[in-house]
Amino acid sequence: MENKTLIFSSFLKSKGLRQTPERRDILSEIYALPSHFSLQSLGERLTKKKIIVSRGTLYNTVNLLLECGLVKRYLIGGKVRYEKTGNTDFRDIDMKQNMKKVDVILGLQWGDEGKGKIVDVLAPNYDIVARFQGGPNAGHTLEFDGKKYVLHTIPSGIFHDHITNIIGNGVLIDAQIFMKEIAMIRASGYEPSKNLKLSQKAHLILPTHRVMDAALEHIKGSAKIGSTLKGIGPTYTDKTARHGLRLGDSLEADFKARYDALKATHIRQFESLGFDWKKHKIEDLSFADYEKKWFAGLEEMKKFDIISSEHFINQALDAGKNVLAEGAQGTLLDVDFGSYPFVTSSNTTTAGVCTGLGVAPNRIGKVYGVFKAYCTRVGSGPFPTELDDEIGQELRRIGREFGATTGRPRRCGWLDLPALNYAIMINGVTDLIVTKIDVMNDFSEIKLAETYTVKKKKTAEYSDGNSDEIQPNYLSFDGWNQSLADVDTYEKLPPNAQHYLNFVEKNTRTKISIISTGPNRLETFFS
Ligand code: GDP
Ligand code: IMO
Ligand code: MG
Repeated sequence: MENKTLIFSSFLKSKGLRQTPERRDILSEIYALPSHFSLQSLGERLTKKKIIVSRGTLYNTVNLLLECGLVKRYLIGGKVRYEKTGNTDFRDIDMKQNMKKVDVILGLQWGDEGKGKIVDVLAPNYDIVARFQGGPNAGHTLEFDGKKYVLHTIPSGIFHDHITNIIGNGVLIDAQIFMKEIAMIRASGYEPSKNLKLSQKAHLILPTHRVMDAALEHIKGSAKIGSTLKGIGPTYTDKTARHGLRLGDSLEADFKARYDALKATHIRQFESLGFDWKKHKIEDLSFADYEKKWFAGLEEMKKFDIISSEHFINQALDAGKNVLAEGAQGTLLDVDFGSYPFVTSSNTTTAGVCTGLGVAPNRIGKVYGVFKAYCTRVGSGPFPTELDDEIGQELRRIGREFGATTGRPRRCGWLDLPALNYAIMINGVTDLIVTKIDVMNDFSEIKLAETYTVKKKKTAEYSDGNSDEIQPNYLSFDGWNQSLADVDTYEKLPPNAQHYLNFVEKNTRTKISIISTGPNRLETFFS
């Protein structure tokens, strides 16, 4: 019993509450009971023993005991019953309360929301920054000290040398692209081998995966996804088909044989598709030249710290370290929840952090959802608020909306509230981060889709069906017509910008914690 009293008082202390004689008596009585009880039967037992407690105290105490795991609650025949639990371990309670969690930064739209910039800004608060999914289809732009960097596979904490950056098991790595990125970072005066670790379970994008991506897009013709052609779909396909190659495999003696076998399988598939793979160029190189570079890259990559990142991360958390997970792509490109089939091939959402890093769901902490003050999309697929007019072109021109990975022009449109609320729901977003409000500085009118009309019915529910069938219902806001260059607090924002952001907060029931007003690290403030 002493143990349970200790658990309860420690729990009460953590909530700023006192252990009172009434609370102690209620706990003792519950633990003296042989089986389940109702609040009424418990009250009667206490009265019989001349222990007088009010109904309110009884109710509150049982609720607190439920919360700290000393009592469980269930329904029997429609009636609520409670019962003591076998929770006798003091450490259980302590560990749950003090457990370090992984915070997450991910995109709430179709990618390119400004995740890289935000990760770089928040990174100094963390010991570890880890990518959990995607691969070099991502392009994350960082700007500081007058320079611009675009990262594809390497986490955006790499420019802070006291931070350990991890490429998690859920990520795909192309050896050639990876080494190109390393060379770019080295040329800028940083040494990434000091603060970068790679999961041995991360899958490798083979040169033939890139060819396969192109072959499959070619066959689809006008129905193509608009893939970045980095081999993402085919590599994840081989991963789930259980014949992919992992980074750890490259350290084994039979790696070349396994590589050749998979390559041969791919070549047979190209032949059956009628795709002339020998003529296909990758990054302007012949297949043979690209493959040579890839193998040279792999040899270099093997010199990096290749680890069991799930152990590393969990041990770091247990040691009280702070971990930030960096998402790639966006929620509406998630393979399950995005506008399928116009999606990428991974789970870009919070759930992907668990599988992509090996952290349990109860170790997820804050979820920062990044969204642009308007919307963009690269590649094919539905986009309900897309603007095929001059306003769309203005957003593209002012926002420099061209892909960081492929250079393709991004499709632009107004902010879509049903889509944003959907993304918040799927990810369990705790904090919103808005970027690029400065892009609309000179707009006299700003619109936002509050609801959709789908098949003549008005709805606030996101729909990823055919854009032609979805009619967004817009609300109009007055622009602020001024530069935000000197704005570094919420209070300094023009009233019309405050009004627009307040509306989003109210209608998503989620606070906007960070506001970004430019590409530079310094153009960011907490609201
Ligand atoms: P990510 O893929 O989510 O990291 O985003 P990208 O880097 O692909 O695209 C975002 C683009 O917007 C980059 O060029 C950034 O430098 C830029 N950017 C980020 N935040 C802001 C902002 O608040 N205002 C402006 N004007 N540009 C921004
Ligand atoms: P970041 O991390 C925007 C899009 C592609 C295509 C679809 C499938 O920079 O936000 P894939 O190559 O993954 O098979 O392409 O997904 N896409 C992105 N769009 N930002 C990205 O990453 C993207 N990564 C993939 O344009 O429509
Ligand atoms: Mg990007």
